[in-house]
Amino acid sequence: MLEVATSAELRAATDAARQRGAGVGFVPTMGALHAGHQALLARAQADNDLVVASVFVNPLQFGPAEDLASYPRDREADLAVLEAEGTDLAFLPAEAEMWPAPPEVRLRVGGGLAERLEGLHRPGHLDGVATVVAKLLHLVGPSRAYFGQKDAQQLAVVRRMVADLAFPNQIVARPTVREPDGLAVSSRNAYLSPDERRRATALYRALAAGRAVFEAGGRDPAAVEAAARDLLEDAPGVEPDYVALVDPVTFEPVKQAEPGQVLATAARVGRTRLIDNVILA
Ligand code: PAJ
Repeated sequence: MLEVATSAELRAATDAARQRGAGVGFVPTMGALHAGHQALLARAQADNDLVVASVFVNPLQFGPAEDLASYPRDREADLAVLEAEGTDLAFLPAEAEMWPAPPEVRLRVGGGLAERLEGLHRPGHLDGVATVVAKLLHLVGPSRAYFGQKDAQQLAVVRRMVADLAFPNQIVARPTVREPDGLAVSSRNAYLSPDERRRATALYRALAAGRAVFEAGGRDPAAVEAAARDLLEDAPGVEPDYVALVDPVTFEPVKQAEPGQVLATAARVGRTRLIDNVILA
């Protein structure tokens, strides 16, 4: 595995691969790598000749009161995971390399994607994601880039950015990897105390309860959402931010529950904010 920290080194390595005609797969991450990241890396490995992964905790996507300073960082452990997954090129830029100065020109997400759910609860977050993903896609120049369904709204923003601005990259989505008790694997799970970790299973149990209403024939979005919300509101030590059944592309509310729609939730467990979603099938 080649480890690089600058755009120039990254460009040199990927240019050489592209000239050979190699298909380049890219997995952008913020590190603290776990089974969810590993699943993306494994898929990228299966689909491409060369796999590039980035580890960069992007300050643009954190709000002033959020966890930028405490976000888990473990360079050596991340490199070991990347190596074990057969990553060819690891890009670990310092902040001064990615953003020598705060960028004056940024992407702004609009419409329902910006006004709902994560867009509403984390102002500026999705703009920061779009801006850094745009830059990373330019730097790496992959044939395919891999994103997790776990961050469904981020995925929708990236897809929309690629469509609206004619990025040449194919976006590949992969399912959410879960712990045996259903909790979605996340770097932020490391913040949970043992007690909070037990309580955090309420998010997936709530989504499963909402999905069960649909699977039993329920088509009223309010009934699907209510089943999930009731479970979350009854869960001790869990404070829901939202529960919503939305269109997977626009994130607008839906009139009738249908397969393919996303039942999404965010909730605080102690001081940790977790998100999760399921797709109705
Ligand atoms: P990060 O949270 O490190 O996630 C990197 C990728 O892993 C994202 O595409 C995310 O959806 C995916 N992922 C996280 N948990 C997952 C799980 N349990 N199952 C499957 N995939 C999972 O998302 C980011 O970083 C950043 O916003 C980034 C896109 C790198 C831009 O800074």
